[in-house]
Amino acid sequence: MLRFYTAGESHGKGLVGIMEGIPSGLAISSEDIDLDLKRRQQGHGRGGRMKIESDHAEIISGVRWGLTTGAPISLFIENRDWPNWSEAMSAQKNFTGSAQPVTRPRPGHADLAGAQKFAHRDIRNILERSSARETAMRVALGAVAKKFLATFDIRVGSFVVRIGNAAVKTVINTASGTDLLKLAKNAQASSVRCPEDNASAQMMAAIDAAARAGDTLGGRFTVFVLGAPAGLGSHTQWDRRLDGLMAQAMMSIQAIKAVEVGGGAGLAETPGSGIMDEIFYKGGKGFFRKSNNMGGIEGGMTNGMPVVVHASMKPIPTLKKPLRSVDIETKKPFKAAYERSDVCAVPAASIVAEAMAALVVSGVFLEKMGGDSLEETRRNYGSYREYLVQF
Ligand SMILES: Cc1cc2nc3c(=O)[nH]c(=O)nc-3n(C[C@H](O)[C@H](O)[C@H](O)COP(=O)(O)O)c2cc1C
Repeated sequence: MLRFYTAGESHGKGLVGIMEGIPSGLAISSEDIDLDLKRRQQGHGRGGRMKIESDHAEIISGVRWGLTTGAPISLFIENRDWPNWSEAMSAQKNFTGSAQPVTRPRPGHADLAGAQKFAHRDIRNILERSSARETAMRVALGAVAKKFLATFDIRVGSFVVRIGNAAVKTVINTASGTDLLKLAKNAQASSVRCPEDNASAQMMAAIDAAARAGDTLGGRFTVFVLGAPAGLGSHTQWDRRLDGLMAQAMMSIQAIKAVEVGGGAGLAETPGSGIMDEIFYKGGKGFFRKSNNMGGIEGGMTNGMPVVVHASMKPIPTLKKPLRSVDIETKKPFKAAYERSDVCAVPAASIVAEAMAALVVSGVFLEKMGGDSLEETRRNYGSYREYLVQF
């Protein structure tokens, strides 16, 4: 079983992650993880913080001489801004009161509901943890999961398809792993992570216009997993269905408001005859499909096609344009003041989504294949693949 947790505040000392269940013998280094941390920090429309912080993951445990030992892996990412916050965010009692309490909840944030739920009069106790800074650690843990999956030729990728009104024009062939990989590769060259040059330019212009207007933008991205064998996940219980696990993983990313698997909402508008992915067979290759409207998941299990999930993100709730809210102490209305913030974080969210997809798929893969060492998992996987070809 693969389990993971994150801890840490946005302006605390740093972020902590613990991951348990990765077999022994996987080669992993801080450098591998930092590559993905860097990808999360890039993107047109990110705020000032991304310029001051260059994330680095320190491996604290579970790895010895470059290889996982099978023990829990723990990681630490320091918050570079910590020296400026060491009193305001101190764990020590003697610093109590060293920062003004935050009493003005921002619409669209966890601020008000969180303060009510946890009985806080200082909203900082909520916003520090609800901030998407936490996703840096998910990306770090996801990088380990990606490395694990890559040893079985399972690849995870993503690209942005919409920011505000600007969207890609290409009809994406989600049945083709080659096409999906090409789109993800093209997206790497774009600062909005969009595979089409024209749409990329329009997205950047839309972000610039929103920034000038003191506004923010959301968007939509696609995440895919290639090379997963049929049979990951299970139809037998609601909480073991892979579509459900994927949806929760995506939805758990701050500001994600909709998740679709394969053809998603569009499938509701089409007769069944036009969208089911018909089944074909070829000796040596086994069963296959020519279309992928189900996004590679049927009955909560992978069917051997690319797993394709789309997620939609709402606009960033912190705006330069003030929004109406009410102070929790005075009960007087005020207009929310601007803090350093992103104008659009859809490209970054797509990297977080890659990490979450990798963690979920690693979990169901390990559940199916088992193994305490990579060698054992490889053996099990090899025999399962042989079995599938003969099925
Ligand atoms: C990568 C990423 C970066 C984000 N950056 C900001 C930001 O700079 N300012 C902000 O107000 N919200 C930002 N958000 C969104 C908020 O974290 C999110 O809207 C808030 O925590 C409330 O959660 P909810 O939108 O899921 O209800 C970001 C989200 C992600 C995924």
